[in-house]
Amino acid sequence: MDALPDSRAAGLWPEDSVARVPYWVYQDEANYKRELERLFEGATWNFVCLEAEIPDKGDWRTNHVGALPVIVVRDADGAINCFENRCAHRGALIALDEAGTVESNFKCIYHAWSYDLCGNLRGIAFERGINGVGGMPRDFSREAFAPRKLRTTTLCGLVFATLSPDTPPIEEFIGADVLGRIRRVLDRPIRVMGRFTQALPNNWKLYVENVKDTYHASLLHLFFGTFRITRLTQGGGVLVSPDGGSHSSYTIDKADDARSTAYRDQGIRTEKQDYKLADPRLLDTVDEFKDGIRLQILSVFPAFILQQIHNCLAVRQVVPRGIDAMDLKWTYFGFADDPPEMTARRLRQQNLVGPAGFVSMEDGCVGGFVQRGIAAAGDQVSAIEMGGRTTESQATRATEASVRGFWKAYRRHMGY
Ligand code: FES
Ligand SMILES: [Fe+2]
Repeated sequence: MDALPDSRAAGLWPEDSVARVPYWVYQDEANYKRELERLFEGATWNFVCLEAEIPDKGDWRTNHVGALPVIVVRDADGAINCFENRCAHRGALIALDEAGTVESNFKCIYHAWSYDLCGNLRGIAFERGINGVGGMPRDFSREAFAPRKLRTTTLCGLVFATLSPDTPPIEEFIGADVLGRIRRVLDRPIRVMGRFTQALPNNWKLYVENVKDTYHASLLHLFFGTFRITRLTQGGGVLVSPDGGSHSSYTIDKADDARSTAYRDQGIRTEKQDYKLADPRLLDTVDEFKDGIRLQILSVFPAFILQQIHNCLAVRQVVPRGIDAMDLKWTYFGFADDPPEMTARRLRQQNLVGPAGFVSMEDGCVGGFVQRGIAAAGDQVSAIEMGGRTTESQATRATEASVRGFWKAYRRHMGY
């Protein structure tokens, strides 16, 4: 592992507080390599796909666990396997596409070595040479060069993988409160509606913090405040897992919120009284989970997000691409038993999110604003004190408790 620079190793965290974060953590190459090893390849569960994306034997998808390319595949017994997408021979990707189906093995395109659905090396082209000449030495160890295998687990149709033997069971890893909020949404078989990848110009942690930062939603996003999708004056709160790493924030609409003048009184730019939707069907919403929660944003450490904004449901995955770049992978879904009018409603509401989404386009640039703002501030710190300095769950969204929770888990995994 690369050593951290001396000046930072001496005072890794300027204050022993999760309410202070030094800006070098978004900029330091050695720190980034340590994150890949200790977070993504360490004792965490990483989202790799939805079960619905690989329903039958031989169905597979490729993905990344941090920087590690992986293949996720359903085998003949119905089990889901995950292994490194790296050929044992010279290291080429074994699977080149995003998804597909194989009969019984994968074949590397470079020299045709083949792998079974568990990631075991099964065949070596011309292993014994031609007419007894050439070929591989008889003592070549297939195991020594094999792609690494990850453990997998499933939860409500989500598939997670880990390289570490020490990662606790997924239920324990997520914690009971946040787990309940996953089960609340993923309560029946799902149907994938579409997917895309958004490239963002910032460190991966700035996006994860943004997701956990429920305070910003109605202040940054004009559409949220103006059309009362979420405002701090509405009911709701934030749940934080005991280890800090996972969270769920939620908004419950209150009928009397429409009369609140709090945003006007504070001069907040995101409430426009005179704006009206040309097509109000966009926000025609059904209370499908029968609890009045119109918006729920949930994360599982380090990089998974489950979203319910009205009837627009999606999972998002954060893939780091260096210290100042990341990919955000979106997968929209509905349920297998959705009637046609619900499918139409979800399709309309999918305009809310994504790179040009009415409520999420600002999130695509604000991480870049921070990355640029802190360019010469590696030794400075941010102030994360809304709602106090601890990480407990709170019955308000005017808090950064879940952002502090991320740093609590981050510091523990990173050894800081
Ligand atoms: S790199 Fe895969 S067979 Fe040679
Ligand atoms: Fe946002």
